[in-house]
Parts: sequence; structure tokens; C-alpha cells
Amino acid sequence: MEDLIKKAAKDLAASKDVVALTGAGISVESKIPPFRGKGGLWEKIDPMEYAHIDAFNKNPTKVWNVLLKDMKEIIDKAIPNDAHKGLARLEELGILKTIITQNIDGLHQMAGNTDVIEFHGTYAWHRCMDCKNRCKSSRIDLTNIPPLCDCGGIYRPEVVFFGEIIPPEHLWRSRQLASDCDLMLVIGTSATVQPAALMPHIAKESGSKVIEINPEETPLTESISDYLILGKAGEVMSSIITELERLL
Ligand code: OAD
Repeated sequence: MEDLIKKAAKDLAASKDVVALTGAGISVESKIPPFRGKGGLWEKIDPMEYAHIDAFNKNPTKVWNVLLKDMKEIIDKAIPNDAHKGLARLEELGILKTIITQNIDGLHQMAGNTDVIEFHGTYAWHRCMDCKNRCKSSRIDLTNIPPLCDCGGIYRPEVVFFGEIIPPEHLWRSRQLASDCDLMLVIGTSATVQPAALMPHIAKESGSKVIEINPEETPLTESISDYLILGKAGEVMSSIITELERLL
């Protein structure tokens, strides 16, 4: 692992156009559980029953009670960990340009990154299903479930539910960045949900290096990634930053 950390630091120092693709794993050390694997949310509840837009439309109270309420409470408490901070430092150093994140927790922006594509939307805002009024999550009152807008409509978070499309401008821009970058860091994603999982493929086909950071192998590991640094995102990123700062 030491060798791969040195190699990643060298590769980052030699790159001009780095893009990061992040997933739930990068926020695990911030105490937000992932979806798949050990302790994953989808082990406890069926995503089709609770995270599909049809399920929400059919019974918003059930989805709010079982999934959204807890999620809001966990996200409200979370703070960036060393992996988020490491990516913010990479931007400060002029190495990292953009983060494409599948996460809805806002931790990259809280850590200081300024160009973050929220591929699956954000939990920072809610929208009324009827009048479309937008409201900051911090102002959503969960005393009564589901939370209601002044017009009587139900609030939903501005996240992408299963069965909904990725905002086209996010998809278009991510594809562009993936094909233009010279190095893609893929951190804490199982790389199983499309179209996000396509981005490392596009990067690779366009001649970019792909470096994965994950405690487990993924479908990208053998075929797409140049190498996988096996480990927790926070620990690996802080070692890479220490090594990189020595090189610069
Ligand atoms: P997953 O939950 O599918 O995968 C989490 C990944 O993080 C796994 O590969 C783990 O091995 C890895 N992991 C766990 N702990 C880690 C740590 N400390 N450091 C680094 N990696 C760690 O999450 P995503 O790939 O983000 O979509 O899932 C993609 C999408 O599926 C989510 O955005 C969500 C979900 O359904 C929607 O809700 C639309």
C-alpha cells in the first residue's frame, strides 16, 4: 500500500486535469452508512419499496418515516472527514478541478470544494410537490410527517429517486469532464449504479489514468482502474496528501 500511495502522489503531481468521482464510501468515516455491503442501507430496506419515485408518490408518509427522516437526522449531524478534506486540499493546490459526487450530503462543499456536481441531487434543499416552492432542509420541520409546505403540499428532498432521470446538465457536464481529464480518482463507490458508473469507463477510453480508493474491489478494479489503493478513504487520502506535499 505504501508504494501505491507514493505512486498516486506522483501521478497526481504530474496531472493537470484531475476529476474525482465519489460515492457513499467517502462519507462512511463521517458516520453516514453506505447503501451496499457491510452495514449498507439496502441490506435493511428494499430500495424499490422506499427509494423509488413511484413508492414515494404512492405513500410519501411511509417513505418519510422509514427512510427520509433518519437520513435527514444523520446528514444534519455529519461533518467532513480526512477524505473530503484531502480533496479540498487537492483543489487548493490547483490539481483537482471538479468532483462528481453521487452523494447528497453536501460534505464536499462543507470541506471547501467549489466545483461539485451533485449527480444524484442534494439533501440541502426540499421542494413542495404541489407549488414547487423550495425550502432549505434546515428549515424543514419534522415534528409532523410528512413535512408540509404552507400551501398544504408535501415536501420532498431534491434528490434523484430511483426511476427519475439524472439532471441532464449534470450528466452532460460529467461526461465532458470524464473525457477531458487526465486522471480520475474514484473514491468509495461500488461503481454499480448507472450512469454514474460509466464515468470511469469514459475517462479510461479517453486515455486518462483511473485510480480507485476503496477497502474492497469493484467491477472497475480489474478492467478499468490502473490500480486500486485498498483502504479507507480518509486514511488513504491523508497519506496521499502528506506524500504529495513532500513532492511539490
Ligand atoms: P455503495 O453503497 O453502493 O458503495 C459504497 C462503496 O464504498 C463500496 O464499494 C464500499 O466498499 C466502499 N466503502 C465502504 N467504506 C469505505 C471507506 N471507509 N472508504 C472508502 N470506501 C468505502 O455507494 P455508491 O456507489 O455511492 O443512489 O452507490 C451509488 C448509488 O446507489 C447512490 O448514490 C444511491 C444508491 O442507491 C440513489 O439513491 C439514486
